[in-house]
Amino acid sequence: TTPLIFDTDPGVDDAQAIAIALAHPEIELLGMTTTYGNVDIDTATTNALLLAELADQRIPVAQGAAAPLVKLKHPAPAHIHGDNGLGNHPLPAPSHRAETISAPQFIVEQVNARPGEITLVAVGPLGNLAAALQLDPGIVDRVKQVVVMGGSIREGGNVTPVAEANIFNDPHAAARVLTAGWPLTLVGLDATHRCVLGPAQMDKIAAAQGKLGDVLAGSYAFYRAFYRTALDIDGCCPHDSCALAWLMRPELFTTARGHLNVVTEGDAEGQTLFASQERTFIDPRWARTPLVDVCMNADGEAVVDWIVETLT
Ligand code: BDR
Ligand code: CA
Repeated sequence: TTPLIFDTDPGVDDAQAIAIALAHPEIELLGMTTTYGNVDIDTATTNALLLAELADQRIPVAQGAAAPLVKLKHPAPAHIHGDNGLGNHPLPAPSHRAETISAPQFIVEQVNARPGEITLVAVGPLGNLAAALQLDPGIVDRVKQVVVMGGSIREGGNVTPVAEANIFNDPHAAARVLTAGWPLTLVGLDATHRCVLGPAQMDKIAAAQGKLGDVLAGSYAFYRAFYRTALDIDGCCPHDSCALAWLMRPELFTTARGHLNVVTEGDAEGQTLFASQERTFIDPRWARTPLVDVCMNADGEAVVDWIVETLT
């Protein structure tokens, strides 16, 4: 099995990924850490607690970043995920509370308790991982690997022409996390935009997921309306589930190894710049950041099939 900590800002597509992490027989979900992003931090934590409860699982949830490290926080994108993050589907209050320790403390404690074993999967802005690195830089050598849903290499952005939302929401945190020197894979829009979950597939998942499925159905309806109006797509891109798909089924993705940098200021803030290790550049600054893997493409149909299979 794969022991992992899921760092999230739920979020419609986060909720689906959480359902996968809870359901997959080979994933051992050690806990969820929450960050602001799609919603404010309190809503993110409430949603994480509630989603686990609806799946009848008691998973520790540790609350984390309420704002970006340096830049000013911008309002949560309520037109994409709804005011409550789950498409404004009416939600009961969770009956459990978050851990008393913070998200970065939770990450550091867990990683140090099982050196070499734990995978961190981050699908929101990267403040919690950046804070964990600051708390204990030694975790760089003690995590098994880090998988980040974020960024875009050739695909262009979804917040600005060049920036993807999770990186744009905290570029300074992203710069630290993506260049920390731990084994890292970036699953960005180059892969997630190849994957479109259709309406019938969403209905199938919702129908199979019991109480959690009711919330997924409500949130999907809202998300679908956004995709239809804003992007002219019938269905949605399951961004955050793609990070788990890469982890469990890497053969469905094409990756490249190289150096990654994040633009932290100016018009291109939040852009991820990638230089494949196969290329040489006249400007030597490119070779300074540690090598990482980035997803350049995905077999979208196969990824979507894996998501549907896992959840039905
Ligand atoms: C990412 O941004 C958020 O809106 C989604 O949950 C996903 O993590 C996609 O750019
Ligand atoms: Ca997310």
